[in-house]
Amino acid sequence: MQDTRRNLLIVGAGGFGREMLGYVQDDNPLFNVKGFLDSRANALDATPRSVGIVGDPLSYQPRAGDVFMAALGDPQQRFKYTAALRDVHNVDFATVVHPRANISRHTQLKRGCIIAPQVGISVDCTIGEFTCIQEYTVVGHDAHIGNWCQINSHCTIAGGARIGHFVTIHPNCVITSRAVIGDGAVVGPGSVVIGRIPAGITVLGNPARRFSFK
Ligand SMILES: CC(C)(COP(=O)(O)OP(=O)(O)OC[C@H]1O[C@@H](n2cnc3c(N)ncnc32)[C@H](O)[C@@H]1OP(=O)(O)O)[C@@H](O)C(=O)NCCC(=O)NCCS
Repeated sequence: MQDTRRNLLIVGAGGFGREMLGYVQDDNPLFNVKGFLDSRANALDATPRSVGIVGDPLSYQPRAGDVFMAALGDPQQRFKYTAALRDVHNVDFATVVHPRANISRHTQLKRGCIIAPQVGISVDCTIGEFTCIQEYTVVGHDAHIGNWCQINSHCTIAGGARIGHFVTIHPNCVITSRAVIGDGAVVGPGSVVIGRIPAGITVLGNPARRFSFK
């Protein structure tokens, strides 16, 4: 029988990419995984999989039926290594929602999002392009998360919270309903954000404050 599933290419063969292979091979029969795209030809040498690296995302020539998944944990790397595919080839990036995630039908997920198992997203939220939300994170009603964010596991994003673009939130954070997080900010693990966080800074703690090792 002909396989009518689309050919998925996973951009990034690091830890996140290998996790995503598990999601879509084991749990999502809509995709036929063609392989990884990674600029490091040896990226899977220590952790081989049933599919290999089939090209470099910066030079890959898309073929009919290809669909892509941006699986790089760092938002800046995610942006960089998908640039040619987005801007030169204008390819199709899948929005992948794990079957064990619970997403309100009144919430909007934009293209290229990845939503992990056990994530819950309530009503009237927006989740921007190429944003990834990891296991067991919950997002309350009317929360807005921008493009290219990485929201790691076991976080609570309270209803009404506002998160900009290219924001990283490390595991076990609470982002309260009054929080407004500027573009490019980083929230360290276990933090509680109660107010406005300026763009581009790193915060840590409860309440979260500007943080630097220096
Ligand atoms: C709190 C945190 C967000 C701060 O991030 P950051 O400001 O970008 O800091 P980094 O950890 O990248 O370290 C910055 C510098 O401080 C140094 N540094 C790290 N730990 C240090 C320590 N305990 N004391 C002094 N310097 C330290 C680093 O080596 C680095 O130096 P470099 O710039 O010369 O390479 C980060 O340390 C952290 O905890 N990240 C979460 C990681 C994690 O749990 N990921 C899980 C994802 S699922």
